[in-house]
Amino acid sequence: MPSIAHSHRPPWPRVMRAAFIGLLAAATVAAGFARHSNASDDSLYRGLGGKDSIVKVIDVAMTKWLTDPRILDEFDNINIERLKSRISDQICQIAGGPCQYSGRDMYASHKGLHLNQAKFNALAEDLQLAMDELDIPFRTQNRLMALLAAMQRDVVTR
Ligand code: HEM
Repeated sequence: MPSIAHSHRPPWPRVMRAAFIGLLAAATVAAGFARHSNASDDSLYRGLGGKDSIVKVIDVAMTKWLTDPRILDEFDNINIERLKSRISDQICQIAGGPCQYSGRDMYASHKGLHLNQAKFNALAEDLQLAMDELDIPFRTQNRLMALLAAMQRDVVTR
């Protein structure tokens, strides 16, 4: 005997079903876009203490990079003020802050340096020391480091 369990429920009107699916699709696209552009989540930016604090972190980190025997040679003949400003803008942007990074992409700007993993690690370690010195919480540090780790394959080419 055929089941009658569903036979009393009228089917959703076709137009409502279509509207629902449309709404779901729009929400999915919006969520993906927000995640991609970080438009709705500036928690890392705020955790880092905003733009002034990011500039300070990069200033302290740069002092370490320029005196670290493992990597200091890489910065010969480089416009340090411009580099600090670019890195600060980039970090501000990827952390969800109101900044616009206008430099080159990571592969283009590092390929000529032929960097290996050890140099990448040295730069990352100095950056973490700088954040320690400026009392950036460990969890916030790790969130930033995870974003930078994602760039490793463009930066480390040797
Ligand atoms: C995830 C790690 C890294 C990030 C986010 C990063 C970020 C940047 C940014 C934003 C620029 C500016 C690009 C431009 O001017 O258009 C840059 C350039 C540069 N980076 Fe990095 N960098 C990373 C790793 C490294 C490492 C490991 C070294 C060396 C040990 C390094 C050395 C340099 C140098 C020397 C430049 C200047 C290149 C030039 O102007 O020709 N970077 N980096």
